[in-house]
Amino acid sequence: MQRLIPTLRNDQVDEALISVINTLQICAKEISFRCGQGKLAGVLGSTLDENIQGETQKKLDVLANQLLKDILLECKHVRAVASEEEEGIVGGTLDGRYLVAFDPLDGSSNIDINSMVGTIFSVLPAPAEPGAEVDMFLQPGSNQVAAGYILYGPRTMLVFTTGKGVKMFTLDQTVGEFLLTEADVTIAETTTEFAINMSNHRHWQPGMRRYIDDLLLGKAGPRNKDFNMRWVAAMVADVHRVLTRGGLFTYPWDSRKANKPFKLRLMYEGNPMAWLVEQAGGLADTGEGRILDIQPTDIHQRCGVILGSRDEVTTCLQYLKGSQ
Ligand code: F6P
Ligand code: MN
Repeated sequence: MQRLIPTLRNDQVDEALISVINTLQICAKEISFRCGQGKLAGVLGSTLDENIQGETQKKLDVLANQLLKDILLECKHVRAVASEEEEGIVGGTLDGRYLVAFDPLDGSSNIDINSMVGTIFSVLPAPAEPGAEVDMFLQPGSNQVAAGYILYGPRTMLVFTTGKGVKMFTLDQTVGEFLLTEADVTIAETTTEFAINMSNHRHWQPGMRRYIDDLLLGKAGPRNKDFNMRWVAAMVADVHRVLTRGGLFTYPWDSRKANKPFKLRLMYEGNPMAWLVEQAGGLADTGEGRILDIQPTDIHQRCGVILGSRDEVTTCLQYLKGSQ
């Protein structure tokens, strides 16, 4: 099985970008080890703090954030990083060519129950002139040069794209290296599986309610087939399932949060996952347009996410637009 760096060279990925991806996999191994140790390393439970999004911080959130920051900022090609756990950006090498946005530990409510979590990352080009300003990050997802995630589950997997399809690597614990286990991931166009937090049903837009209600009717309803539902409650794991066996994943608009009607963050959740899904032949939309086309105005902004199998996302969008 092919190793990471030769695979990237085969794809003619720029050496500076290879170095950034290599740095990310070093972080991944370290975080994977800490997740695996759990209580043995005293890393479970919460800190007494909240992050800038007002969410309780888990000890592992803080640890993963610190590791990523420290290790990435030592890479001379990293101009600056933006993290879910940091209010502002953190500057690195002033003439570094790349910006890295990340969610250090996605799905952190799963940490204490020994269920799947992951690190999501998005690499953007830094402008030619040196310096590190927050505005540099405000680029649409279509500008990404690398994006992906590391899934910490029964197996630790590195999944990413550099614009040449989606590749999956599995961490071989016996040699301590990521080996290529899926060279060209493709999402099935049709599916009978969906992922949504059903407990929010009463807060969705009418179109989303009608769409999900029709899925639940199964063969007896207008969709004329039975659907299955899955919800890991970690976007990284739910999207991994969609990439692996198809499906639709959504975290839709929610009426309770008038000024924050969406849950997922654009720069380090929506964009990287959207690019992966598109590279694998699927669709990724906010409900009002392609996620990758959004011009960000804030590094922590949120967006609607509907992604996965092409035909199912298209159908869901038709319900939202009222044409179905
Ligand atoms: O990062 C936000 C997140 O943890 C996602 O990973 C996940 O999809 C979602 O929130 C889970 O939300 P809920 O708590 O509504 O199940
Ligand atoms: Mn997250």
